[in-house]
Amino acid sequence: MAGPLPEGNEMPVDGSLPAGVNLGAENRTMSAYIHIPFCRVRCGYCDFNTYTATELRGSSQATYIDDLAREIELSGHVLERAGVPKRPLSSVFFGGGTPTLLPAHDLIRALELVQRQHGIVPGAEITTEANPDTITPEYVNALAQAGFTRISLGMQSAVPSVLATLDRTHNPASVATSVQAAHDAGLEVSIDLIYGTPGESVEQWRESLETAISLNTGHISAYALIVEEGTALERRIRRGELPEPDDDLEADMYELAEDLLSKAGFNWYEVSNWSKSEAQRSEHNLTYWQGNDWWGYGPGAHSHIGGTRFWNVKHPAAYAQRLAEGHSPAAGWETPDSQSRELESILLGSRIREGISTEGLAPEAVAGLIADGLIDGPQAIHSRLVLTVKGRLRADEVVRRLTFF
Ligand SMILES: C[S@@+](CC[C@H](N)C(=O)[O-])C[C@H]1O[C@@H](n2cnc3c(N)ncnc32)[C@H](O)[C@@H]1O
Ligand code: SF4
Repeated sequence: MAGPLPEGNEMPVDGSLPAGVNLGAENRTMSAYIHIPFCRVRCGYCDFNTYTATELRGSSQATYIDDLAREIELSGHVLERAGVPKRPLSSVFFGGGTPTLLPAHDLIRALELVQRQHGIVPGAEITTEANPDTITPEYVNALAQAGFTRISLGMQSAVPSVLATLDRTHNPASVATSVQAAHDAGLEVSIDLIYGTPGESVEQWRESLETAISLNTGHISAYALIVEEGTALERRIRRGELPEPDDDLEADMYELAEDLLSKAGFNWYEVSNWSKSEAQRSEHNLTYWQGNDWWGYGPGAHSHIGGTRFWNVKHPAAYAQRLAEGHSPAAGWETPDSQSRELESILLGSRIREGISTEGLAPEAVAGLIADGLIDGPQAIHSRLVLTVKGRLRADEVVRRLTFF
């Protein structure tokens, strides 16, 4: 969702999908992503499609769920016209932005709308992202009662100076109270951490990891800070106000995460994700990585149905206007050719613990990766390509070597 939209083909105003997206649909699961494009302030490192109150250009948080309702109804017509059989949703994910800036009843209404449109598989994972300073016990209780099962909380760091460099507004103490409230409401909790913030030491990263582990959640994500083009963070680094990221330091931090998390009972299942049990993995993210179908609702959201990708206009005002005129909010679509699909399946599949089959991969490339300690030798003998810790640190290089040998 970050950065400009892809080029692609222009989407017809009624949002009709190309022929063939229905083929094999019965063998794929269906999920929904619901984008909530609002934040109180923009963090200096973030280039997600999100808007503060002064950037809304006439669009409004108060009427946002009405806009979503129109797209949800439209998605039903588009899928029906394309001959895609109705499948209940295997997962629903509210992401942002800051979904929890909206009142709980708005998120609940959006959930009811997708439930009415598609149905939801009993026991499906229903997650919302949340910033620690936006939720209360009443808020999470209301979500849990309406069927939400999981909260993904943006902790990022436990260290005030690191949070300040990231422009995070929350008080570190609010993370523990938010996790407690969510657990009391019966929700699973995942914590997002960021490492490699300019000026962050390995000891500070250790403190963040230890604090996150002490909160006793079943899932932790740890992302290396990406310095996105055009962000305030990038400008500060360019002006020399903050140091450049250091790859060696980040590698040490990743290894520390693997070490502390595994000792605390977490297992990695994707390069940046660890869970205590299989049931606590993010089903929704696995759906993306496994190439299933999903509809992404909201401005800038991307969808993927039967191998065709399409994406919505980015600004909430343009999104609302198109829907009010009875048009699809989709800006473009593309159906990647088989070579790009294969590249993508290597890119995504190699990052997960199950890995990918080595059949069809260049044997010289696989042998080279084993020799360099980047993939697991014994698993390769059984035709699976699975990254070692060193390989997880250099996952991009592994993909390059597999695809451009
Ligand atoms: C886009 S945020 C949305 C959720 C919520 N607003 C928050 O900030 O926690 C989702 C996650 O993306 C990650 N993220 C955003 N920008 C990033 C960047 N430039 N580098 C690494 N991680 C990033 C953060 O860890 C964040 O928790
Ligand atoms: S709160 Fe989350 S979505 Fe909003 S600007 Fe910060 S990182 Fe981005």
